[in-house]
Amino acid sequence: MAVICKSPAELDKMHRAGLVVWRVLNELKQMVRPGMTTMDLEKYAARRVAEQGGRAAFKGYRGYPCVLCTSLNQEVVHGIPSAKRRIEEGDILSLDFGVEMEGYYGDAAVTIPVGKIAPETERLLQVTRESLDRAIDQARPGNRLSDISHAVQSWVEQNGFSVVRELVGHGIGTRMHEDLQLPNYGEPGHGPRLREGMTLAIEPMVNVGKPAIRILDDEWTAVTADGSLSAHFEHTVAITSNGPWILTRPREVDGPSW
Ligand code: MF3
Ligand code: CO
Repeated sequence: MAVICKSPAELDKMHRAGLVVWRVLNELKQMVRPGMTTMDLEKYAARRVAEQGGRAAFKGYRGYPCVLCTSLNQEVVHGIPSAKRRIEEGDILSLDFGVEMEGYYGDAAVTIPVGKIAPETERLLQVTRESLDRAIDQARPGNRLSDISHAVQSWVEQNGFSVVRELVGHGIGTRMHEDLQLPNYGEPGHGPRLREGMTLAIEPMVNVGKPAIRILDDEWTAVTADGSLSAHFEHTVAITSNGPWILTRPREVDGPSW
């Protein structure tokens, strides 16, 4: 398999899928309240993607049962929505969502505070989001893939947090996972050179404590091995001659990634 570069017309299709991802995630962000269950969010996302003519990309992917991943607190990623799981004041909630439209994919994630959270937890969210901003800034023609990885790791570790090793970002396009795995750690200057038209899902996963994770008996939910809190931010990004293009948000939005 090889890295697939997309034409401008293909990037427009990815952007259309990406805009559905962005809208749904933003609507979910606004509606999250203590007392809701993660299944309430799942149902809303399933309805909204259908209304916009998209197909939820996660449901049925390797047997994943839902359209949304909802990961609370020490859950890193791939938490499965449940009518038994109530969201509480002070939680952090990672929402991960993917859409396919016209054969092209968009994938993004955001971690949100539920009501008032501890200052150290605020800092976790901020540093993780900033690590994504810095990673995206490296997504330019001529740079190497590991320049992106290094941007995440260096910012996270300078700030006293740690980067999950077992899970990575990825190429994306006409499949949710295309060639190129993108670790969130590494020395700069290694790996393939980035070229115009490449599209990557960049997704730092950051723990307050140690990097190790384990998978729960549901075979999906990744949690921190030490029980510490974890955050996840993601965007689908195109490498263009004008610099990084975040496909999972409207063009008119700029500034921080989330
Ligand atoms: N955003 C995740 C990824 O890039 C979610 C996919 S896992 C799924 O791999 F099973 F939920 F689809
Ligand atoms: Co992804």
